[in-house]
Amino acid sequence: MKKQPIGVFDSGLGGLTILNALRRELPQEDLIYFGDTANVPYGSKSKAAVTRFSLAIARFLQQENVKLIIVACNTASAQALAELRKQISVPVMGVIEPGAQKAVQTTRNGRIAVLGTEGTVKSGAYPKAVAKRNKKARVFQQACPLFVPLVEENWGKKPAAGLIAEEYLAPVKKSGADTVILGCTHYPVLKPVIAKILGKNVTLVDSADTLAEAASAFLTARGQAETKGKGRVRVYASDDPKRFKRLAEYLLADRIGAVRLKKLNQ
Ligand code: DGL
Repeated sequence: MKKQPIGVFDSGLGGLTILNALRRELPQEDLIYFGDTANVPYGSKSKAAVTRFSLAIARFLQQENVKLIIVACNTASAQALAELRKQISVPVMGVIEPGAQKAVQTTRNGRIAVLGTEGTVKSGAYPKAVAKRNKKARVFQQACPLFVPLVEENWGKKPAAGLIAEEYLAPVKKSGADTVILGCTHYPVLKPVIAKILGKNVTLVDSADTLAEAASAFLTARGQAETKGKGRVRVYASDDPKRFKRLAEYLLADRIGAVRLKKLNQ
């Protein structure tokens, strides 16, 4: 079982921020990354659609004999995790709980803001996960639907990114939150822009490192962690793998090898 890969998926490129954290934390593990470029964005789709896409990907990863599936997408974690756990026999971890945990540990004034897709905000998954850990914490949510296309188009450094972020973040500033959860795996790519607008008294948290540590602890506790050799990464996209590879390598500032095309049975 130790030799089996870990499966990681997202609607597109955003989950690569999680893949990177996993590569740092678990360098010996083989990883399979699936970017659902045929169906991106998930954030504006219905719960039924996001669940259908997530199940199709998880079934494919299961066929690839993974030992653990990581849902590296907040929208899919918020909307499809329960159904995945019901229908898939491999253990499944999402990104909401680790992000909420880190925010609760970080806040000093008990005010937490969540930036996410419309789907994640609508699900109320973060406020619920925060309340489980700290009933008194106040959670303010802000949907930022234009952030995902900015990242997918690689526009994170253009002036438009700053203008759009100013609009979305004005109510966040007003909320008085001292801790802001980047509740979409695409958003860490926009961290410099967001941090500049919110200022140095606000701490930005994302799930990547906390999730990678949780995955490591989970596999170690089950005696399933690979401790030898150097892990390999295999990447699939459900549409236009060449474009995915080009943008992914730019975003990661690293090579990711061949990206294979895998159409989903959905
Ligand atoms: N990266 C995804 C998330 O974390 C969603 C982006 C999208 O497909 O809308 O929510």
